[in-house]
Amino acid sequence: MSPMSQTPAGSSHSRTAAVIPAAGRGVRLGPGTPKALRALGGVPMLIHAVRAMAASRAVTLVVVVAPPDGAPEVKNLIDGHVLPEHTDYVVVPGGATRQESVKLGLDALPDDVSVVLVHDAARPLVPVDTVDSVIEAVRGGAPAVVPALPLADTVKEVEPGDGAGAPEPVLSTPVRARLRAVQTPQGFDRGTLAEAHERVAVDGEGATDDAGMVERLGAPVVVVPGHEEAFKVTRPLDMVLAEAVLARRRANDGF
Ligand code: CTP
Ligand code: MG
Repeated sequence: MSPMSQTPAGSSHSRTAAVIPAAGRGVRLGPGTPKALRALGGVPMLIHAVRAMAASRAVTLVVVVAPPDGAPEVKNLIDGHVLPEHTDYVVVPGGATRQESVKLGLDALPDDVSVVLVHDAARPLVPVDTVDSVIEAVRGGAPAVVPALPLADTVKEVEPGDGAGAPEPVLSTPVRARLRAVQTPQGFDRGTLAEAHERVAVDGEGATDDAGMVERLGAPVVVVPGHEEAFKVTRPLDMVLAEAVLARRRANDGF
């Protein structure tokens, strides 16, 4: 029995919801449809992400944050795909930055939600075991939980140049073994995340990491093991990788 099945799904004391920011344009992927609506294996990336959250028995509500003018289209898309029935689906329009989009999603949560996952639509292939381990850590008392992986590359801090390729001075080289690349879904005690979004103002492009906002409140954040299939689809090569992961899954399902 999984740890999650000990708490009845939808029980009022610990209802778990997932907010999926999907309002981005996908500029780094190149021109075309908003990133979350692009197809992977013939299915929109967003539908993969919704299924990945609903695959957890603990998740009884998914809030999708759609492109600002695309909420009706996203609602139709969700209605047109087969999704688990133990989960409710809500679509709200998003904002100009990820931080604003997440805030708009949080504002749509009903009162009985006490645990919130925030999951990028751009991470369509996260396995359910990763989702469940994040939820389990929040239910175990951690106010903020982040799935993350050790880095393959060494990282250098530089004095950024103009982006045109001129040499950039290196300032420092953090010890790689102490670094983690963070993924989503990030999991939170709902009150803690709501307070972070109330208190941390949108600055420039806004925060790209919800846990970082909680850190700024001074609340503890912990990391649990992430998964290589939870990578973010950002650039064109990531689409190739995502298609390959889906092909591998189809091949394995066939045996
Ligand atoms: N996102 C959002 N609202 C925004 C910007 C981003 O909901 N105003 C979402 C994206 O849809 C994505 C997630 O935040 O699911 C992570 O953002 P990112 O990977 O940067 O996606 P985009 O912003 O769409 O891509 P790019 O930065 O290349 O334009
Ligand atoms: Mg972005």
